Amino acid sequence: MKFARRRARRLRILISAGPTREPLDRVRFVSNYSTGYMGALLASEALARGHRALVVHGPLVEPLPRGTKRLAVEQAREMDAAMRRQARSADVVVMAAAVSDFRVAHAARGKWPRRGRRTLVLKATPDIIGRLPRRARQLVVGFAVEAARVVPRAKRKLREKRLDLLIAQHANGSGAPFGRHRVRAWLLERGGTVHPLGKVAKRTVARTLLDKIETLWYGQPERVLRT
Ligand code: C5P
Repeated sequence: MKFARRRARRLRILISAGPTREPLDRVRFVSNYSTGYMGALLASEALARGHRALVVHGPLVEPLPRGTKRLAVEQAREMDAAMRRQARSADVVVMAAAVSDFRVAHAARGKWPRRGRRTLVLKATPDIIGRLPRRARQLVVGFAVEAARVVPRAKRKLREKRLDLLIAQHANGSGAPFGRHRVRAWLLERGGTVHPLGKVAKRTVARTLLDKIETLWYGQPERVLRT
């Protein structure tokens, strides 16, 4: 990455990554297919540019870059608590985690025996990014996965969650865009600008996002977004 380094100091970037797990009983959980790959690429890109990165993560399939500062959590409520604490000292918060949207209302303390039928009652987890306390100048970035009407739905999320930037991704034929697949992605800005990124590698998404974050933070002239 080559561009003028006119900045006063490195950014403190807080990144969430991976899925969360919500217990059903002592040995089972509800979760999703997130691997943590996007979060790992964001951390790698941030460190390569000389920023400080802290990753709050659920159970990961993909490794984080060597030397990454990290905080491991499991449930959405633990990620919520960790993010709230750590966001106080972050210049930028990037919420790349696939937080489980539901938890089991009454998880069992023991192990449910395999017998007959069981009905699960699920409750929505807190919207972590939407309720983070904000610092002045802090940039808050979210991700969204949509199966249809990607841009209008993403615009609405950007507004409702009070985000500065949002990466929207299309959940296409192969299901949700988890893992090392290329993704069809868009970068949305708070002012309403939408940058279609096309079908790109996730590393490109990470670079494009870091370019935009640096541009917003340091006030450098807008560079051409690479796709
Ligand atoms: O509403 P939706 O789940 O599509 O929003 C996705 C964005 O919100 C992601 O940045 C995700 O990390 C974040 N999120 C959250 N807390 C939740 C669910 C999603 O912060 N409970």
